[in-house]
Amino acid sequence: MRVDIGNALASVASPGVSRDALDQLDETVARAHERIERGRADDEFGYASLNLPERTDAAAIEDAVEPLTDAEAILTVGIGGSALGAATVSQALGGLSADGENADAAPLYVLDNVDPARVREILAEVPLDRTAVNVVSRSGTTAETLSNFLVVREAMEAAGVDWTERTVVTTGEEGPLRELADRHDMPALDVPEGVPGRFSALSAVGLVPAAIQGHDIEGLIEGGRAGADSLAGSLFESPAYAYGAVSYALDQRGASITAMMPYEERLEYFAEWFAQLWAESLGKDGLGQTPARALGATDQHSQLQLYRAGPRDKMVTLVRARERADREIPETDIDGLAYLGGSSLGELLDAEFEATEASLAAAGRPNVRIELDRLDAESVGELLYGMEAACILAGELYDIETFNQPAVEWGKRAARGLLGGGDFEEADAVAEKTELL
Ligand code: PA5
Repeated sequence: MRVDIGNALASVASPGVSRDALDQLDETVARAHERIERGRADDEFGYASLNLPERTDAAAIEDAVEPLTDAEAILTVGIGGSALGAATVSQALGGLSADGENADAAPLYVLDNVDPARVREILAEVPLDRTAVNVVSRSGTTAETLSNFLVVREAMEAAGVDWTERTVVTTGEEGPLRELADRHDMPALDVPEGVPGRFSALSAVGLVPAAIQGHDIEGLIEGGRAGADSLAGSLFESPAYAYGAVSYALDQRGASITAMMPYEERLEYFAEWFAQLWAESLGKDGLGQTPARALGATDQHSQLQLYRAGPRDKMVTLVRARERADREIPETDIDGLAYLGGSSLGELLDAEFEATEASLAAAGRPNVRIELDRLDAESVGELLYGMEAACILAGELYDIETFNQPAVEWGKRAARGLLGGGDFEEADAVAEKTELL
């Protein structure tokens, strides 16, 4: 993974960060790196996430899902950090890869929301007797996940399918989901200790669907290892820290919005995963950048106008893979279109990428380029690890609690209380507010 911060420098962009300011910030980065390394060495909550490449056992995941590898569809039932990593990994590796491998992989459906219309659609679409159900919840109590799972289970029973044979559970050591898996002797994998949901993509939480699809999950972990090896006590020596430090520095100078814009359809979920990582980890104490999601080249025809000429409160991250399976554009003699013939869709996408980057730079808008060699398991693993490390570094620089999510927990308790799942003061607050309306 390469990170180019040249277009975030004050000589190019406003807000921008000067080389002197980065040199000064680098001293804080060095201290933050020491803190992170201490946390990793002690397997401290949150910091332990950066040890996943050493801890995740690809073979154990492959063994657990082996009975489900005949699946014609995969249904991930989870939400937030218990769904987005899996969706990101599978989408990034899915479809036709450069050499055509896994072209027939079972499609992944993500049941994260509890919109009844979507749930009905998915249940009507998947062949329930040939579907692998992947239920994921660290707590084992999240209302959306457990409700969706109960609905899926009922649908399978109604279709005469033994759901215990078609389900793999990933959860914490204790809780209702663990008890269910034990009671029915179902394959159950662990959410690793010390790893918050949004940092768990390189564990069973993120890797089960990819393993069922036959993707190279060892390669993903290997990519994570390369990410770990490239962490160093200077932002000038570590691509991940360069990204985290520059994001922080730009935010301090007014770029309170960060737009993640991959130029790969297969990284669309990555932008959503990044948005969760950044928002839920860094949105504390009145601080944190607001993530925005965009897709190149599509959003060049919509959001780019704002990014280039709107308020100077944004940084844009452009992501691409250097090599991809390509498709020629046919020759044509249609007036004015002949120039397209003979080049390829990939060349056009690259031209769009470079044009956007240059257009933002010409308008003095800070942007960062992230480049992968290709969208394979190693590069994707390194990208996810790198963004997690960038986020943890940014959390140190902001001096906030990166690994908790009190606002999210507030909402969970309120919803649970409102549905009669216990006495929660958060639910009382919602009820009082509703009465006032
Ligand atoms: O990152 C997080 O901690 C959250 O997004 C959780 O993953 C999400 O709330 C789901 O929680 P659980 O895995 O307990 O069902």
